[in-house]
Amino acid sequence: MLMKKSNFLLVGVLLAITGGAFAATDADTQKQLDAIKGAIPKFAVPMREVGDRFRDIYPAAKGGNWALAAYMSKYMNGAMAPAKLTKPDEYPAWQAFYDGTFAAVNKAIQAKDFKGFEAAYTKVIDSCNNCHKGMGYPFIKVMKNKAPADTNVNYSLASEPGDVPK
Ligand code: HEC
Repeated sequence: MLMKKSNFLLVGVLLAITGGAFAATDADTQKQLDAIKGAIPKFAVPMREVGDRFRDIYPAAKGGNWALAAYMSKYMNGAMAPAKLTKPDEYPAWQAFYDGTFAAVNKAIQAKDFKGFEAAYTKVIDSCNNCHKGMGYPFIKVMKNKAPADTNVNYSLASEPGDVPK
């Protein structure tokens, strides 16, 4: 009887220890996950890339390098991916912007329609700035700039919008 009781106690103690160990591991893992998440960019870092790629789309379309224009648009959107994790409440506003408002720019690129592109591109800048205003950054005002951000690329190399690898 005594033996049984102490066994019971031992199991209880073991359970308490392992349970505690698990809890500590969980807390540790959570701490590490939070640290990793804290190091992943939110909006500001990818937005710098959005700004540069957005600028580069213009000379690419103008120069008839349609694949480069499509590529810049694709990775302009891709640049924002970390915000899915770090800014889950704000990211859907970006997604809605890219899938909605920005679709007209993408459509003109796919159609190799520079006139349509110019109109859609110019119009979309207001939406960029409206989001900045709405999220408390009215002082970040994107302007149309026909010169590329990256000057080391040939914007006049003829290409098709569908040439971008999947
Ligand atoms: C969903 C809202 C939203 C949309 C749409 C949006 N932005 Fe932004 N952008 C932001 C926010 C918010 C910031 C401020 C960064 C932060 O919050 O950390 C920002 C910052 C910027 C910056 C400054 C980055 C830096 O730190 O150097 C640039 C450039 C920029 N955006 C360009 C653009 C362009 C170009 C577009 C349109 C093609 C655009 N943004 C569309 C929300 C948006």
